[in-house]
Amino acid sequence: MNLPIRQQIEELEDSKIVDVWRRGFGKPGLIMLGVGEGDLATPKFIADAAYKSLLDGETFYTHKRGIPELRQALAAYHKKHWGAEIADERIAVTSAGMNAMIVIMEIAINAGDNMVAVSPVWPNIFATVEIMGGEVRMVALVNEAAHWHLDLDKLFAACDSRTKVIYAASPGNPTGWVMPADQMQAIVEFCRRKNIWFVCDEVYSRLIYDRPVAPSVLQFAKPDDPVIAVNSFSKTWAMTGWRLGWMVMPKALHPVVERLLEFNTSGGQPFLQRAAVAAIEQGEPFVAEQLERFRAGRDLVTQRLGGMKRVKVTQTDAAFYLMFQVDGEPDSHKLAIKLVDEARVGMAPGAAFGTGGEGFLRLCFASSTKRLSEAMDRLEPFLN
Ligand SMILES: Cc1ncc(COP(=O)(O)O)c(C=O)c1O
Repeated sequence: MNLPIRQQIEELEDSKIVDVWRRGFGKPGLIMLGVGEGDLATPKFIADAAYKSLLDGETFYTHKRGIPELRQALAAYHKKHWGAEIADERIAVTSAGMNAMIVIMEIAINAGDNMVAVSPVWPNIFATVEIMGGEVRMVALVNEAAHWHLDLDKLFAACDSRTKVIYAASPGNPTGWVMPADQMQAIVEFCRRKNIWFVCDEVYSRLIYDRPVAPSVLQFAKPDDPVIAVNSFSKTWAMTGWRLGWMVMPKALHPVVERLLEFNTSGGQPFLQRAAVAAIEQGEPFVAEQLERFRAGRDLVTQRLGGMKRVKVTQTDAAFYLMFQVDGEPDSHKLAIKLVDEARVGMAPGAAFGTGGEGFLRLCFASSTKRLSEAMDRLEPFLN
C-alpha cells in the first residue's frame, strides 16, 4: 500500500554523512571524526542549572520566544561580543539551530521559490528548503592556495525573482571559511534592495582561532532589514544534545515567529533555558578552554596530514573541521567508506555538502590530541 506521503518528503535524500556514520557504527575501536560535535560533555555548572530548575518545578509551558531572562542574557551577549544593540522583541529561542532554520523556511519559501546558498555547507539546511517544495541553488566557494573564497558576483547572479533567501554559514561547516565583513555588508545591502532574506548562520561564531569572534551580520544590518542571524548553544557550550538555539530577526517578524513556534513546538523547555542562561553568564572560561583544545587538535591534524605525501590540506581559521584532498581519490564517498572499513577512521565525504565539496574529506578535530594522533597513525599508510 502506498502511504499518503507528500512527494517532497518522499524525495528527500538521506544525509551522506549519516551513511558513513552508519557504516562505522558498532565497528570495534573505530575512531569516528565524521560527526560535527566535540567530545566534551556539557560542563557541570550548566547541567546543575537545568537540574535546579527541574527541582524548582519549572516544568510548565512557557513563553513562546523563550524565557525573558534568557532573551535578556542573549541581548547582553550580542552587545558584549559584537557591540550590537538587540531589542528583546528581535530574539526568539528555538529548539537549536535546526528548528530555527525550519521556521525560517516556513516563513519564506513557497513551492517553486528558491534559496541561494553558499556551498559546500551542512546539508540539513538544503532539506529545510526542499521540505517546503523550494529549490536550492548552490554557489560554491572557490578553493585557492589552500583557502576558500566567495565570488559575490556569482552569488548575486544566481538570484532571480523567485529567490527568497540567501543563506551562508560563517564560519562555515565543512570549510571553516569566515565571510569577510565587506562581503557581509554587501549581501545585507543587496538583500535590502531586493527584499530577499539574508539568513546568516553564526553557530560557529565563537570558534575562531585568529581573532576573538567572527564578524556577525548583526554588526551591519539595520534592525528592520530582512536579515536573520541563526545561532545555537550546541557547539560553543558543548550542548549538541540539548537542542537549544536562537535567532535574531527584524522586530516586525516577531509575532509571526511567535505563532510558528507555537505551532511547531509550542515553545521550548524552561529548565533547558535556565541552563542556557548559566552557559551565557558563566561560560566564558569554558569557551576559552574548549577553544584551546580545538586549536591543539587543529594544529596536530594540519601538521600530520600536511606531512602525508598524497594529501592536500586546506587551512582552517574557524569552526572545528579540516577539509583535505587526496591525490588520486576523486570520489569522496568511496574514500570515506574505504577508510572506515580499512583504517577504522570515520570522516565525512565532501560530496555530502553540495557543490564544491566533492574530492574533499571533512575531519572534525574537536577531540583529544591522543585520539587524533591515533587516527593519524592509522590514516598514514593509506594516504602517504
Ligand atoms: C552550519 C550549521 N548550522 C546549523 C547547525 C545546527 O546545529 P544545531 O541544530 O545543533 O543547533 C549545524 C550543525 O552541525 C551547522 O553545522
